[in-house]
Amino acid sequence: MATRKIVVTSGPTREHFDPIRFLSNPSTGRMGHSIASAAVAHGGFSVIFISGPVNPDFAQVEGAKNIAVTSTDDMLAAVYANLDAGDILIMAAAPADYKPAVRSPVKIKKTENPQISLVPNPDILKQMALKNKTLSPRATLVGFAAETHDTEKYALGKLKDKELDMIFLNDVSKQGAGFASTTNEFTVFFKDGRRIELANASKEELGQKIIDCVLAVPGA
Ligand code: CTP
Repeated sequence: MATRKIVVTSGPTREHFDPIRFLSNPSTGRMGHSIASAAVAHGGFSVIFISGPVNPDFAQVEGAKNIAVTSTDDMLAAVYANLDAGDILIMAAAPADYKPAVRSPVKIKKTENPQISLVPNPDILKQMALKNKTLSPRATLVGFAAETHDTEKYALGKLKDKELDMIFLNDVSKQGAGFASTTNEFTVFFKDGRRIELANASKEELGQKIIDCVLAVPGA
């Protein structure tokens, strides 16, 4: 029997509108990298680390299969190809939700005064919830929600809407939490209605706690 996989996504994605310019976000990949490292350290799973463009420190995880991607479409293709029955997906990445409707093959000059219109990207977790209907046993789906307001309402909405097993909410408006911080803190909501708090700690310590939490879910 094939070894069960833990698939971890990490970092931002980039959506180019010409060869040298893109839309993205400030995700560093530190959190995803620490989760995948903790998954390798746990043992017993094959770990697939799918990362958007990040600093070399966080781009690869020793002991994992490392897959580098650029856009949200690339990340979706890599997750889709690697998530099989009974696996665990931890979507720690911050994929761009929109991409330019048109990508110029050549550099756009400033005299062109460009107007960039955007079209939506696929939602990777929702696509995996669809794939899950064809898998037996189903894969465990874990999401993250970075919110600035009405945090609990939005996290619970995403838990239901994306058909997740659990979601890690962080309030990015707090000091010491979120994208560019070296520490973080989470409220974890499970689909059975339970919730727990993970107190402020370094992203490395939290990587370990997140893996423990995920592996405690029935079926995971
Ligand atoms: N996510 C995803 N595919 C996307 C965007 C996000 O799978 N195209 C995943 C993220 O990796 C995260 C979860 O969905 O685990 C929630 O991401 P978030 O950016 O908080 O939410 P969105 O669904 O993008 O909604 P909004 O930006 O409106 O808050």
